[in-house]
Amino acid sequence: MGHGIGQVFAAAGYEVTLYEPDLARAEAGRARIGASLERAVTKGKITADQRHEQLERVGVAASLADAARNADLVVEAVFEDEQVKQALFAEVASHAPESAILASNTSSISITRLAAALPAERRARFVGMHFFSPVPVMPLIELIRGAETSDEAEQSVRDIAAELGKQVIVSRDRPGFIVNRVLMPFLGESMRAYEEGLGSAEDIDTGARIGLNHPMGPLELADFIGLDVCLHIMEVLHEGFGDPRFAAPPVLRQLVDAGHLGQKSGRGFHTYPRDK
Ligand code: CAA
Repeated sequence: MGHGIGQVFAAAGYEVTLYEPDLARAEAGRARIGASLERAVTKGKITADQRHEQLERVGVAASLADAARNADLVVEAVFEDEQVKQALFAEVASHAPESAILASNTSSISITRLAAALPAERRARFVGMHFFSPVPVMPLIELIRGAETSDEAEQSVRDIAAELGKQVIVSRDRPGFIVNRVLMPFLGESMRAYEEGLGSAEDIDTGARIGLNHPMGPLELADFIGLDVCLHIMEVLHEGFGDPRFAAPPVLRQLVDAGHLGQKSGRGFHTYPRDK
């Protein structure tokens, strides 16, 4: 999601620096922003000059020190591994200005536990800033306050979100926060319904699309999010609440074990491009 997050900041006038441990990946992220802006030009949503200006605001850094040194805000969007995120934030804290807000785009990991990796004086300015895919399209940011997040940090993130044109909801720091807490049982139940042969994947999705006016059916949405990501979030919810209604369905585990991760691998509950 990193490039999508970078794109919305650049569009709002911020100077953005992308960092990946491998510089080529950061450059690929910048190229994806360029391609996305190119589509926006083709559709007449922005001018070619605006594309140029926005892309000019996006740079890449060869080191984390270079990326963080002058940052007002650091948004982390690495894969969902608590230890990896903690190690990253510990390093960011050694380079970023004291005044910087440090934010995680985690979809389910405890903000309080991530903050624990930081020096104590940094924790008040640490928050969850959860974006939704595709980031340029989805107008929501879920703001998560850890145990030590300050009112000032919350207000700063609210002000930034307003500049990005995103609406904010605030969640307490509980597994899955608000959106995934309500989404994952829906996706999980849809997978169980599919597994027991209640209906075809197509009919389950059509039911939600046409009958509930959802933009995507639940199986299609799980494929879009990534089945490995869904599995991880369900595991966090199940472990956090100890409630079987959050348990991942066997069909989800089996697809992930087989490497069928949804859209990104070409196959999940559906095959891609869509087998309509
Ligand atoms: N980047 C930028 N713009 C994009 C885009 C992308 N990756 N994908 C689609 N768009 C834009 C298109 O350009 C198009 O814009 P216009 O209407 O202005 O032309 C618009 O979105 C609609 O796109 P399409 O016509 O191609 O396709 P669509 O109408 O089928 O919509 C969709 C695609 C926006 C993805 C829609 O199906 C949708 O809203 N799906 C649900 C997405 C959702 O629920 N996301 C949240 C997932 S949960 C999550 O992210 C968090 C988590 O922790 C798991």
